[in-house]
This record gives sequence, C-alpha cells and structure tokens, in this order.
Amino acid sequence: MRLPKVVKIVEVGPRDGLQNEPQLVPTEIKIALIDRLSASGLKAVEATSFVSPKWVPQMADSMEVMAGIERRNGVAYPVLTPNLQGLTGAIAAGATDIAVFGAASESFSQKNINCSIDQSLERFAPLIEKATGLGMQVRGYVSCVLGCPYEGAVAPEVVARVARQLLDLGCYEISLGDTIGVGTPGRAQTMIETVSASVPVDHLAIHFHDTYGQALANVLACLEKGVSVVDSSVAGLGGCPYAMGASGNLASEDLLYMLGGLGIETGVDLSALAAAGNYISHALGRPNGSKVAQAINCTENLTSKGDQP
Ligand code: HMG
Ligand code: MG
Repeated sequence: MRLPKVVKIVEVGPRDGLQNEPQLVPTEIKIALIDRLSASGLKAVEATSFVSPKWVPQMADSMEVMAGIERRNGVAYPVLTPNLQGLTGAIAAGATDIAVFGAASESFSQKNINCSIDQSLERFAPLIEKATGLGMQVRGYVSCVLGCPYEGAVAPEVVARVARQLLDLGCYEISLGDTIGVGTPGRAQTMIETVSASVPVDHLAIHFHDTYGQALANVLACLEKGVSVVDSSVAGLGGCPYAMGASGNLASEDLLYMLGGLGIETGVDLSALAAAGNYISHALGRPNGSKVAQAINCTENLTSKGDQP
C-alpha cells in the first residue's frame, strides 16, 4: 500500500461542527475551543463563516470569534465566505485564509447558497480575484461529491468540472466534500481518479461526513490514491444545516489515531486534541463523539481509579 509520509489535517470543528448546533454556543467557548485546537499542533483550524446570520445564526459572531482567538505562528485560520459581502467581513476581521463553497449538485447549491452552480462560480470569480490580489489564500469546497440529499447519485465528471473551475479561478486547494456521508471506499477512489485527471492530486483535499460510518475507510482509500490533506472535526462534531441527515464529520481524534498507526506524520498531539474534544463535548453537554477519545477517556478513568487507594 503506497501512502503519503505526511498528512495535513484541516480541523473544521469550530465551523462545520458548530454551525449545525441548534443552541447558540457562547463566543468565548468557540474561542477557547479554537485556541485549544491550535495548541495541539494543528496547522489549519477553520474558525468560522462570514455567511448570512439569517441563514446560519450560529455563525453570527464571526467577527468576535476572529477578534478573540490567539493567532499562533504557522497556523492558518480559514473562514468561509460565500460572496463579496462575506469577503469584506473576513478582511475586516483580519482573516488571511478564506474558503468559497460550491457544489456538484444543482439542488444542493440552491438550498445552500441560493443560486445555481454556474451562478456560484460567477459570484466567486471577483471574490477570489480580490482576495488573491490582497495576498489571501483561497480554498474551494465542492459539496455532494458522492451523493446529494435532494438528487441522489452525483457523477464524478461533474465533481471534476466544478473542482477544475475552482482551481482555474485561483483556489490553491479543492476540498471534496461527502456532505451527507454516503460514500464508500470504492466509489471514493473512482471519484478521486476522475477528479485528479482534471486537478492534480496535490491540490485536492477530502472532507468526509461519517453518517454511514464509512469516513475513516474512505480516507484510507483516498490516501492510497495520493491525497494528503484531510478535513476532520474534533469530537466528530458537525453536519450541514442544508443537508438533512448529514451527521458529524470524521472525528479528528479517530483520523489522527489511524494516521499515527500507519506511521504518517501530522505534527498533532493526540492527547491535546482529545482534551480539546472533551472540552467542547462537555460544553455542549454530550459525550465525545470520537471513538478514540472515548477509549482514551475510559483508559484514563480506569488508570486514575486504579491509582486510588
Ligand atoms: P441570499 O438570501 O440569496 O443573499 O443568500 P442576498 O445577497 O440576497 O442577501 C440577503 C440578506 O443576507 C441581506 O440582508 C444581506 O445583507 C445578507 P438583509 O438586507 O435582508 O438584512 N447577507 C449577508 N450577511 C452577512 N454575511 C454575508 C451575507 N450575504 C448576504 N456574507 C447567501 C445567499 C450565500 C448569503 C446565503 O445563502 C448564505 O449565507 N448561505 C450560507 C449557507 C451555509 O453557511 N451553509 C453551510 C456551509 S457549507 C457546508 O457546510 C459544506 C462544507 O462543509 C463541505 C461539505 O460538507 O460538503 C463546506
Ligand atoms: Mg462539511
């Protein structure tokens, strides 16, 4: 099995994870989560979204979040920007990394950003031009790469077309999102093979939600195809408000444990990451959604009980 020696983990929990929480999460908790995540050795922590607060109320405090976090050297804090208004907010907040988000399904594009795929690309063009002109790094997402909640199966050729257009517009990396977590490893590999014929694999990232429990297997299948950037969410937080049934992302702790077992370097400390996951799970009043974090917590409990007289 040929695998990359180094994988970059893009932590999306503070954005993709929290955006779907029905109760407003206090800004100071979001800030404390981001600071814990950046302290764990992660090099990219997606912090928030500059989207319409009417569409996603949970992200309404994006300016305050960006003002409150500690910006560590060598860590990127990308934010989502769907349009020029979002970019203006991101610039005012001092963001240096942004992400635009398109889709490979017309219905999802309409539900998520209220326009067609082609309209979204037209909207992104001046945004990306302005951002790159200011020296910002722009990432592009393609959602529904392995299935759409409204249209079902999605052709890999459509994913490849949208991904290529985002690259041509100036995105340095294209993150391929299995938004509703329906993919399986064979289909994930076919999709990567098709997309990498249009976009060099070193410009691709993968973004799996774990709805059907396939995310970790899908990641391994894509690493075999040369992908070396993986999005994940601490404690398995997540979901998309415009994709019914989309559960949390692949848990970062589970991803890190697998990568460690394969001897792949990430620079991330598992116990610090698991502690960040425990922090947010406690704040949200629910058990940690990562199996690895659960196992670590259980072992630590047993150890500390064993230590007692
Ligand atoms: P629209 O209603 O067509 O926008 O929404 P509009 O331009 O007509 O503006 C309507 C109102 O929104 C106006 O306010 C604007 O000022 C305001 P009003 O005059 O009514 O008071 N507005 C904004 N406010 C703040 N920031 C902005 C902004 N833009 C407009 N940037 C829009 C279009 C794109 C704005 C809307 O659909 C939207 O915000 N969508 C975001 C949805 C979202 O965040 N989804 C989740 C992220 S995507 C995801 O999770 C998938 C991913 O994880 C990958 C995967 O899993 O596949 C990335
Ligand atoms: Mg997502």
